Amino acid sequence: MFPKNNFIEKECVMANLEGKVCIVTGASGGIGKVLVEKLSSLGATLVLAARRLEVLEELKEALPKKSKVLCMKCDVTKQEDLENLVNYTLKTYKKIDVLINGAGVSSQHPFWEQPLEDIGKIMSTNYYSYVMLSRLVVGPMKKANDGHIINITSGSVMVDPPPRNFIVYTSLKVALRAFAKGLFWEMRDFGIKVTSIFPGVTRTPLTGKLKNICEERLMEPEAVADTVVFALTQGQTACPLELAVINQQTPWTKPVIPFKQEHPEESKIKK
Ligand SMILES: NC(=O)c1ccc[n+]([C@@H]2O[C@H](COP(=O)([O-])OP(=O)(O)OC[C@H]3O[C@@H](n4cnc5c(N)ncnc54)[C@H](OP(=O)(O)O)[C@@H]3O)[C@@H](O)[C@H]2O)c1
Repeated sequence: MFPKNNFIEKECVMANLEGKVCIVTGASGGIGKVLVEKLSSLGATLVLAARRLEVLEELKEALPKKSKVLCMKCDVTKQEDLENLVNYTLKTYKKIDVLINGAGVSSQHPFWEQPLEDIGKIMSTNYYSYVMLSRLVVGPMKKANDGHIINITSGSVMVDPPPRNFIVYTSLKVALRAFAKGLFWEMRDFGIKVTSIFPGVTRTPLTGKLKNICEERLMEPEAVADTVVFALTQGQTACPLELAVINQQTPWTKPVIPFKQEHPEESKIKK
């Protein structure tokens, strides 16, 4: 028998985020919306960020009346908006306990055909804003000796080489994974946790725009939101550094997205 230990009791998982101030970027999107509903049901104080303020306001209306929710119009590709998001949150709530970087865009093209505009958008939304917001919140978190940064990365980081038609998207997610690991090692002495979530292909507006998706095999956004909640509710001495939640293989073996393609000249060779 182990002796009764008060310390271990304190370390028990508490599925309660009462009083925790959480910024969520991409809160108006598929994964973001479901996540916001879950965090609100656990008592978190929420700061919702996205460009479509009206969607955030609608989401706020649908949450239980007692929820503390601040909606902020924020284009994460703009430095000024990121600074405003962090400063206004600090002014209103005096602290930031959790940053969830979830804003994201995708674009499915062979690299040589990918519109230049898409490449810029992916870089600034999916990478720049994650790094910059992390930089803006680590100061206050370090002062508080407490905090948690969660990045919604992608299951595609586990595909090597990066999948065809998604190489800019995936290579930046790989960079983000490396960034988060490094950040964890730098910040853990200051009580700050860092977690990368790797979702598989999930049913959201983002995948709704992609071609050749196997609809029946999509994961639901609830699985991703539950994984974030798991990360947030571990004891103080444990940091879930990387959590992958990936599409389960099913009896129908069609790939979720067919990454392997015929070589462009293959059909000619067959003839
Ligand atoms: N769905 C998947 O299969 C999947 C798989 C792996 C990883 N992920 C990642 O999960 C995250 C969320 O994806 P999702 O599927 O939920 O996408 P989604 O439904 O398309 O939602 C994207 C969210 O990002 C926000 N956003 C996009 N550009 C923005 C900008 N410039 N400024 C501020 N907000 C911006 C959108 O809000 P506004 O339009 O209102 O600004 C929206 O809230 C992304 O990082 C994505 O890469 C998704």
